[in-house]
Amino acid sequence: MTEAKLEAWHDETRSFAPSAEFAKQANAQPSIYDDAAADPVAWWRTQADRLTWTTTPTKSLEWDLPFAKWFSDGTLNASYNAVDRHVEAGKGDKVAYHWIADAVGESRTITYAQLQKLVAQAANALTELGVKSGDRVAVYMPMIPEAVVTMLAIVRLGAVHSVVFAGFSAEALSSRILDSDCQYVVTADGAYRRGAASPLKPAVDEALESCPNVKAVLVVRRTGGDVGWKDGRDHWWHEIVDRQSEEHAYESFPAEHTMFIMYTSGTTAKPKGIFHTTGGYLTHVAATHDYIFDVKPDTDICWTAADIGWITGHSYIVYGPLINCVTQVMYEGLPDSGGKDRWWKIIEENKVTILYTAPTTIRTLMKWGEEFPKSHDLSSLRLLGTVGEPINPEAWIWYRENIGSGKTPIVDTWWQTETGGILITPLPGITATKPGAAMTPFPGISADIVDNDGNSVGNGEGGYLVLTQPWPGMTRGIYGDPERFMETYWSRFPGMYFAGDGAKRDQDGDIWLLGRIDDVMNISGHRLSTTEVEHALVGHPAVAEAAVVGASDPTTGQAIVAFVTLKLSAEDASKDQSALVEELRNHVAKVIGPIAKPRQIILTPELPKTRSGKIMRRLLRDVAEDRDLGDVTTLTDPTVVNQIAELMEIGADVDDDLTR
Ligand code: WTA
Repeated sequence: MTEAKLEAWHDETRSFAPSAEFAKQANAQPSIYDDAAADPVAWWRTQADRLTWTTTPTKSLEWDLPFAKWFSDGTLNASYNAVDRHVEAGKGDKVAYHWIADAVGESRTITYAQLQKLVAQAANALTELGVKSGDRVAVYMPMIPEAVVTMLAIVRLGAVHSVVFAGFSAEALSSRILDSDCQYVVTADGAYRRGAASPLKPAVDEALESCPNVKAVLVVRRTGGDVGWKDGRDHWWHEIVDRQSEEHAYESFPAEHTMFIMYTSGTTAKPKGIFHTTGGYLTHVAATHDYIFDVKPDTDICWTAADIGWITGHSYIVYGPLINCVTQVMYEGLPDSGGKDRWWKIIEENKVTILYTAPTTIRTLMKWGEEFPKSHDLSSLRLLGTVGEPINPEAWIWYRENIGSGKTPIVDTWWQTETGGILITPLPGITATKPGAAMTPFPGISADIVDNDGNSVGNGEGGYLVLTQPWPGMTRGIYGDPERFMETYWSRFPGMYFAGDGAKRDQDGDIWLLGRIDDVMNISGHRLSTTEVEHALVGHPAVAEAAVVGASDPTTGQAIVAFVTLKLSAEDASKDQSALVEELRNHVAKVIGPIAKPRQIILTPELPKTRSGKIMRRLLRDVAEDRDLGDVTTLTDPTVVNQIAELMEIGADVDDDLTR
């Protein structure tokens, strides 16, 4: 994103104060900030009382930078906290999930009592397959109730789930399985997308060819049809889970017991296995879910429109809402499965009160037109949220006007896989919100914006977003790689957690997020590293060198643009270039997954480099963003080449640090 574009966002004068009516009934009242600031660690300790502990913790924070422990002498079971305790408290008949299938008309309602039985059966089945406390289990599943049941069953046993987004390729899945040595995989035969069945199991079979340690694969039948099968290794869910006892006696685990791993892109080709532990993470997601979404468990219907394959699904479809005993909508399909008004139909029919989604989806829905939301009664909605990337004010306003009847509060929530839960956000009923700004650190969170030397910037200035004190939901590290954890997050500014985002503090001191300042791209709210895509491209036999940039895109936030030089073989030279470009795009989709397919690949005789040989990504990004390259697949247009050459001259000494 260029400076000029960002400046246009910052209309600091436009703000929306909460209504007195909302403020009066809000879960968070203004004193919350002072209460937390007086003693953040003690405040978080009181938040931990939201959980049911087997052994109540006497310790709060133990901090040995960069390793934090929270509530370490407490013990608990995550799955008991999410499900069983609500049934014990007489809430068994309350609906946990209204699950809505991709196909219009297909749905399932699951109460807390039913969820408890399903989780017990799955936990018993996993035990029969050999899963024990501490084992890692990969989960590669579509958005079906069994995905949630699986996650809860795994943590119930003290095992560790590593959910891999089902849109990732076989290769991406196998590298994640190998990195954390998962010995079990839970998957489905396939998934539905806009009515069509797309297979999943073949990707698992392909992935497991290079994962000899995987002992068992549990497969949910979702789409039907033939699947490849390895006897002894593969087990149908309906054959093994359904016959299990509906009771399972849980064990308690220490608060710092590892609960899950979630892989996320860093600035190298190898994704990082971010891991979270139990007590601090659950405290953080429960408190943030309660105060930020203002949930009233008896009346609200929450819908987090995200996938469980990402951290948003973990924290705000599974753990936060279940800990808080709310009723949710969980949706399997795409926004236009069954028609462009599908979302609005779901909201109307289920009387959804709280909707949480990503700006990229809002922009897509906005593009389809107002007539779709207008044709449905959305008056049940009382709060809207966004996550995953900066939201442009135009989309914010559209969201509020067309979806929120011009009056619902909008919470623009900043956080990361690493942070576990939301850290910067307005609080509805308290904060006067500005379209495009995430506003304020959550109570008990110490955030700052610093310059290159780590000094706080003043109002009206930009810099790097850092967290200056530990918080309960923070990652406890990169699985198996403590040095990389220290180096990635804690060495740029000594003593501070460096998030990798640029941010600005406006004249009122409010925080605006400006996007990543490293080689991480944000494509439709999904993190991908430029290096990962480059790595995939140079793995193709025709490619000599590749440079990838995230260029701003009106719908997806950023889009992948790759500049590629070819190996000079006769065979490639004779190939039709647009066919080769297509082949390369598909190659990336195959290696990483369809979300990584470049929007555009430009074949160029050379890549612009600095004198020291570094690729000048910043320049390439400018070329990709500021020039309408249309359908051009080669940089043979002399004006473009000249411009690059010209800029190369100027840019030879440009500080390229931020982009390498
Ligand atoms: C970006 C998603 C601006 C940011 C929960 C961060 C945001 C990355 C916002 C984390 C927001 C997330 N405004 N940018 N409200 N929320 N981001 O790990 O660049 O998939 O570092 O976690 O998304 O992405 P992740």
